[in-house]
Amino acid sequence: MKAHINLEEIPMKEKDEDETMVEEFDDEQFQLEKEEINTSAVKKKGKEITINDLPGIGPATAEKLIAVGFGTVMAIAVATPGEIVEACGISEAGARKIINAARDNLEMGFESGDQILKKRERVIKLSTGHKGFDAMMGGGFETGAITEIYAEFGGGKTQIGHILAVNALALESEKNPVVVYVDTENTFRPERIKQIADGKGMDVDAVLKSIKVGRAYNSDHQMLLVDKIEEMITEQHLNVKLIVIDSLTAHFRAEFVGRGTLADRQQKLNKHMHALLRLADTHNVCVYVTNQVMAKPDQFFGDPTQAIGGHIVGHASTFRIYLRKGKKGSRVAKLVDSPSLPEAEVAFYLTEKGLQDI
Ligand code: GTP
Ligand code: MG
Repeated sequence: MKAHINLEEIPMKEKDEDETMVEEFDDEQFQLEKEEINTSAVKKKGKEITINDLPGIGPATAEKLIAVGFGTVMAIAVATPGEIVEACGISEAGARKIINAARDNLEMGFESGDQILKKRERVIKLSTGHKGFDAMMGGGFETGAITEIYAEFGGGKTQIGHILAVNALALESEKNPVVVYVDTENTFRPERIKQIADGKGMDVDAVLKSIKVGRAYNSDHQMLLVDKIEEMITEQHLNVKLIVIDSLTAHFRAEFVGRGTLADRQQKLNKHMHALLRLADTHNVCVYVTNQVMAKPDQFFGDPTQAIGGHIVGHASTFRIYLRKGKKGSRVAKLVDSPSLPEAEVAFYLTEKGLQDI
């Protein structure tokens, strides 16, 4: 079973390298190159522009940008200057220029409603295998969005991740779909995938081969693995349709303990969520992230639990689902946040066969 991303190929980022390899910007040269690019962009109309075509990006900078997931003009166009500065150690002014050039080339700006409607047409909905659950989600878990599920231990977050993975690979509309599974708690089980795929009469070997599992050992590694996904899509041309991050917050929660660390944790989580959102949006991928809950001792009414990561995770997620244990071992999933669907609940049993009606 060789579904693992070779971790040796994904070294941890060395900070010193970033700091020593600062590239300075030559403004005059930049202007010149920018004009050249603008005219060549017209000539190139219809052709894809790569980041190497952007002014101010030399081979060293390009390499660094690609290494951290800014491998496409679109990724740069939607980045913040801070992200670019951090990625390749150039000045903030330089970063702004690169971003602006990327934006110029992409004709970014306003889109009309009909264009957005057209974009919405490419949205694919991944099934949970449960009619009621899918209906609550407006047909399934959407591509182009992040769906966050939060629950206490044993709630079923990982099980749902496995079910979605198999169902993403069963998509008939897609040619060779691929699932990327970032496993932070060592709970990915190929045996379980096999069982679910078998139950659907799928080619089990092909299914396992199409799931790329990255075991994340800490939060930095987790973020680095997500950066690598961009490369898998743009360079290896893998048709990634689902990214599972299980768990999104466990490492962050374990590493940032004690007073004064919360702001750092939230800032890092924010960056992580935005990297995921960018992948979801630019490549039409469904991103499924799992999250834990913590007790809220001062809550007297309603459910005394809340999701880790607070507003940062909540706001960046397009859909939020709260999963809790119900009566007689059942589970209740509640859609607590969505751009267009009403708040609703659905109950089911978690069984070997998947999600089953009560
Ligand atoms: P944490 O990661 O610990 O926070 O929990 P989780 O929310 O990821 O829960 P998980 O998805 O691991 O749910 C496990 C539960 O699924 C078990 O307690 C079982 O009740 C139920 N389950 C039902 N059928 C199966 C099965 O075939 N395999 C497994 N592993 N679990 C099953
Ligand atoms: Mg789990």
